[in-house]
Amino acid sequence: MTTTPTRIDLWSSASFLQGQPIDQYRWLHENAPVYWHDAPDEIGGGFWVVSPLDLVKQVSSDNKLFSSYANGTMLYDLPEDSLRASRAMMLNMDPPQHNRYRKLVGPQFIPKSARKWEVDIDELASQIIDEVCEAGECDLVADIAGKLPSYVVARLLGIPPEVGVRLYDLTEIMHTALDSVTPEQRAKVAVEYAEFTANLHKEKTENPTADLASRLAHAEVDGHKLTSQEYQAFITLLVNAGGDTTRGLVGGGVLTLIQHPDILADFRARTDELMPTAIEELLRYQSPVVHFRRTATEDTMLGDTAIKKGEKVAIFYAAANRDPAVFENPDELDLERDPNPHVAFGGGGPHFCLGSHFARIEIESMFRQILSRLHNLELVDEPVWVPSNFTSGPQRARIRFTPSAKANA
Ligand code: HEM
Repeated sequence: MTTTPTRIDLWSSASFLQGQPIDQYRWLHENAPVYWHDAPDEIGGGFWVVSPLDLVKQVSSDNKLFSSYANGTMLYDLPEDSLRASRAMMLNMDPPQHNRYRKLVGPQFIPKSARKWEVDIDELASQIIDEVCEAGECDLVADIAGKLPSYVVARLLGIPPEVGVRLYDLTEIMHTALDSVTPEQRAKVAVEYAEFTANLHKEKTENPTADLASRLAHAEVDGHKLTSQEYQAFITLLVNAGGDTTRGLVGGGVLTLIQHPDILADFRARTDELMPTAIEELLRYQSPVVHFRRTATEDTMLGDTAIKKGEKVAIFYAAANRDPAVFENPDELDLERDPNPHVAFGGGGPHFCLGSHFARIEIESMFRQILSRLHNLELVDEPVWVPSNFTSGPQRARIRFTPSAKANA
């Protein structure tokens, strides 16, 4: 048992400005595996923080007791009209409704479909490094980590890459914590998004091509075409979910490796051998999605803790990924860790990350490029982390490396 009281504050983004608050996670594991966390009335009050890996999996898998639909999946309660609108997104649905929507895009994300993109993704990753390698200095986040996910989502949807990058910038504002972005900024972003998706819907309905945005424009659920609200929700989900998650992983992963020079050197020397376990370990260690929320639909027990109907339950993937009962020396980076049953992509159940196969391909491509082409990596100044308790990763991080020639003419 830890005797020193650790201040637990997993609501304010200040706790996440240096990466994951691992001292807090450690305290929770040792003292309160299911912990009641007070929070301001404006967000609908406090929430349960679930840290043990087995309980995170239990909540994720039991959508009857722990609903995504009842009150959405964000820690803050939404006003009734926004809550209703948020339910157009499959993230905020429960089965069986959720299954009907997920089916529309599921086949595009299975391993076989994702593997067809490997060559394209390798090419994009190589181009991204071409754009920075001669200069010997760049922003790790804007110039490297953030580009690939935006380009990939853009190609999947069938939109120009620069539009993918712009949409991705908007997701950052949408994911930034409530205490860091004004309501006006959020409202502006929402309007820009709505205009973009309305135009896309029209264009892909009238001139369909072989891409996901066209497929969705013509898809049917329960005998009707997607409404414009449902269409927008799908596009937003795909851009959001695939964007700052992968960016956080690559950005945060590179920073972690710079902080562990021996491990970085070993990874460069044994890239092929280490790659499969290294990807999983970076996912565990970085945990780009920090938590999601569910709402209890009945009075129930979670471990030894009584949860009341209607209470918020926050599943902290990032804490579960450092559960000492599952991971030996959880705060240590071990690129050979095996087994590594992390929950960075979710704890199983209906909402398990749709894009996990794409994400792994993107991560591998990007790290292969970085390890083989950017030598003598170092930080130019202190990185700035995304001020968010929801997604974790650097927002800005200037890096320096030995300049080299482009790989592509
Ligand atoms: C390192 C990268 C990524 C991480 C860590 C990550 C993590 C997650 C997590 C934790 C969830 C929620 C799981 C749950 O509630 O059970 C999720 C859901 C989702 N992810 Fe990912 N994700 C990543 C990349 C991607 C990519 C590249 C895409 C798509 C191109 C994607 C698409 C989605 C979608 C659509 C959902 C919602 C699924 C549903 O509601 O059924 N993700 N992801």
